[in-house]
Amino acid sequence: MIIQSVRGMSDILPEQAGAWRYLEQTAQRIFSSYGLTQIRTPVVEDTELFARSIGDVTDIVEKEMYTFEDRSGDSLTLRPELTAGVVRAAIEHGLLHNQTQRLWYQGQAFRHERPQKGRYRQFHQIGVECFGIADALMDAELIEMTDQMWKELGIRDAVTLQLNSIGSPEARANYRTALVDFLVARKDQLDQDSLIRLKRSPLRILDSKNESTQALLCDAPSLMDYLTEADREHFAQLTRALTDADVAFVINPLLVRGLDYYGRTVFEWTTEALGSQGTICGGGRYDGLVDHLGGKSTPGVGFALGVERVVLLMKALEVIPDIYQTQADVYLMSQQIACEERIRKLARRLRQDFPALRVMTHIGGGSLKSQLKKADKSGALIGLIIGQSELASGQIVYKPLRGGEQETLSEMGLLNRMSKLRDM
Ligand code: HAM
Repeated sequence: MIIQSVRGMSDILPEQAGAWRYLEQTAQRIFSSYGLTQIRTPVVEDTELFARSIGDVTDIVEKEMYTFEDRSGDSLTLRPELTAGVVRAAIEHGLLHNQTQRLWYQGQAFRHERPQKGRYRQFHQIGVECFGIADALMDAELIEMTDQMWKELGIRDAVTLQLNSIGSPEARANYRTALVDFLVARKDQLDQDSLIRLKRSPLRILDSKNESTQALLCDAPSLMDYLTEADREHFAQLTRALTDADVAFVINPLLVRGLDYYGRTVFEWTTEALGSQGTICGGGRYDGLVDHLGGKSTPGVGFALGVERVVLLMKALEVIPDIYQTQADVYLMSQQIACEERIRKLARRLRQDFPALRVMTHIGGGSLKSQLKKADKSGALIGLIIGQSELASGQIVYKPLRGGEQETLSEMGLLNRMSKLRDM
């Protein structure tokens, strides 16, 4: 019996690794250009952390967590998201004492959902959390940063920014009463799911997928009308800043998100190109969370993108640069055992002189034809061949593998040529 991977938990095979690296490197470069620093937190946390932060009556906590008792009898959970752990770490290590923090992270998260394209039980997030800044300009800068990321990855045209403000706790409490009154009067028209939510978390009915419930909601009171003056000003400042930065957005009054810690700004980046799992990134402000988890009251705002979904989108749009989909730039071949030593010496020289150049040597002999096949498969642009006559003359055959004339070059000539390859 061959043992297989756990349902909903995928291996990331070498052929996919390049796309992942492209996304990770682009994100990290952009994060660094905004002055963010990295934080790494454990995959496993106390169950209580998630129940308290994400919320007891959310789908994640009620239905989707991988929770287990460890050998000491403690209830632990594989993190379903990374924000809670980052907040815990920031409080625990005093990162929030009279200072602001702008942090980024990446790593696995686990949710026991029904697997389908774009939805997995182990998935990966890349995210950002900023602490100590209540100003809407912080929200705007984070959103601008995601916008820049999509642009650099070449997927901006396929995604839409949905934006909303769910206001302060006080505004939400007032709205909740009005919404419940409205819905109770129309109870017979609600779907089963919404009836359950009506009792436990009525605001989640706003993002019901049920069409008749959606139709009903057209006449429902709007959360926007319940925002406090300060909430409104915060949201106005955010939309002004996004407009100034040329970041297009759609205000979606029904956007509430599935985690309880948010207040004021919430946003999602969505695409039509991935079917039903079209949200590639989500986030918002959570000014009450640090306090709620036992720290000194500190504002926070952040987001996380789903790596698998962004990679699926990049693949669908064919935007992944060749260099992330190939193994080598040059592939060295030899026609005789006697040439092997020179091949190795040349490879060493190329790697030393051009650290960014990807240099593969053929190992294991075989006909030139079969070596060329391997060179082609590696994605290399250039084949370098040393045969009997080159061994004698000290030259190298330079063979462009993607079109172009073959030449014979001296080692000096080759080094000159290499410095021009991909501007390295
Ligand atoms: P979230 O919306 O639950 O937010 O997840 C963020 C992103 O993770 C989603 O937009 C989606 O792309 C991806 N994702 C979620 N579940 C799955 C899944 N089962 N399979 C594949 N991808 C998935 C959060 O997790 C918040 N912590 C974001 C945040 C950070 N808010 C403030 N700071």
